[in-house]
Amino acid sequence: MQQRVLGTGGPKVSAIGLGCMGMSGAYGAADHDESVATIRAALDAGINLLNTGDFYGMGHNESLVREAIQGRRDQAFIAVKFGALRSPDGGWGGFDGRPAAMRNFLTYTLQRLGTDHVDLYQPARIDPTVPVEDTIGAIADMVRAGHVRHIGLSEASAATVRRAQKVHPIAALEIEYSLIDRDVETEVLPTLRELGIGLVAYGVLSRGLLGGDLKPGQNFAPGDFRGHGPRFMPENLAQNHKMVEALASFAAERGVSAAQVAIAWALSRGKDVIPLIGTKRRSRLAEAIAASELTLGSDDLATLETIVRPDQVAGTRYAAPQMALLNG
Ligand SMILES: NC(=O)c1ccc[n+]([C@@H]2O[C@H](COP(=O)([O-])OP(=O)(O)OC[C@H]3O[C@@H](n4cnc5c(N)ncnc54)[C@H](OP(=O)(O)O)[C@@H]3O)[C@@H](O)[C@H]2O)c1
Repeated sequence: MQQRVLGTGGPKVSAIGLGCMGMSGAYGAADHDESVATIRAALDAGINLLNTGDFYGMGHNESLVREAIQGRRDQAFIAVKFGALRSPDGGWGGFDGRPAAMRNFLTYTLQRLGTDHVDLYQPARIDPTVPVEDTIGAIADMVRAGHVRHIGLSEASAATVRRAQKVHPIAALEIEYSLIDRDVETEVLPTLRELGIGLVAYGVLSRGLLGGDLKPGQNFAPGDFRGHGPRFMPENLAQNHKMVEALASFAAERGVSAAQVAIAWALSRGKDVIPLIGTKRRSRLAEAIAASELTLGSDDLATLETIVRPDQVAGTRYAAPQMALLNG
């Protein structure tokens, strides 16, 4: 597995990271043993970047990571997001970026992960009621105390990234970036490059859409994010599927899968872009690892621009209330 650096002078991580969210039910049921085996297979393959959040399955995801990395903590670079508030019925209740709340979240995270430090700690969204300087300043205290190694952000605006960077070096911004979600290219990515901050890309497969498995008329299990995702509403999915079919044809002509093209495309964005691969299965992890060796030439990239067009995607990436929390 090739390695990339998370921001200028930052830590080395694998060129692709494993997104563990789906192992805690975000996209329907997950098999516990297969999830654990997938994380272990990632470590075996040299993928050290494991991405989780304390709110993924209300702590379930962190417990799973702990089980999978038992005896191998030094091989893992664990990125944790915090701040999302949950309720017993699984509901969502906004974000809390207050310093005292952060310390509390971190305390429980360390306990669940069975570790004395988190490698990359990130507010999942910017709490509009708390100056980002306060949140980042408090995490910086945790860095000095040895509980956190590096600080990151998630779905923050370019202006917020600048403010945060003045408080403490920011290693990475985690943000959605894929063949069909390229808004970051306008302002966010240039800002990250100017400041020497890495971009950890999530949704590289647009939550499975670009993989081609989701067919028009698809039913989603209760609790599956896509059941209320605008892009996956029946009419939108039908339209989006046509584009995915074109991507699949492009991929088939090159003897690879659509998902592999999407991953290779993300890797082609620059050495400072580290795509997360969200999967709960070893077979898909293997597909992603093979994709990390795939190079798309300039002709291929130009062709892709014509067949997968962000302006032709039907539906936003989140429903309106969640869209309002982006670019914080
Ligand atoms: N910062 C944020 O706000 C934020 C938001 C969302 C996610 N994340 C993080 O980013 C990670 C990755 O994002 P994501 O999981 O949302 O999206 P993703 O990687 O775009 O898509 C994941 C979906 O794609 C499917 N998939 C994986 N490989 C495939 C293949 N080769 N062919 C067809 N389908 C395939 C997975 O199914 P299987 O699992 O069945 O393989 C899963 O349903 C998450 O795990 C999470 O850690 C961060």
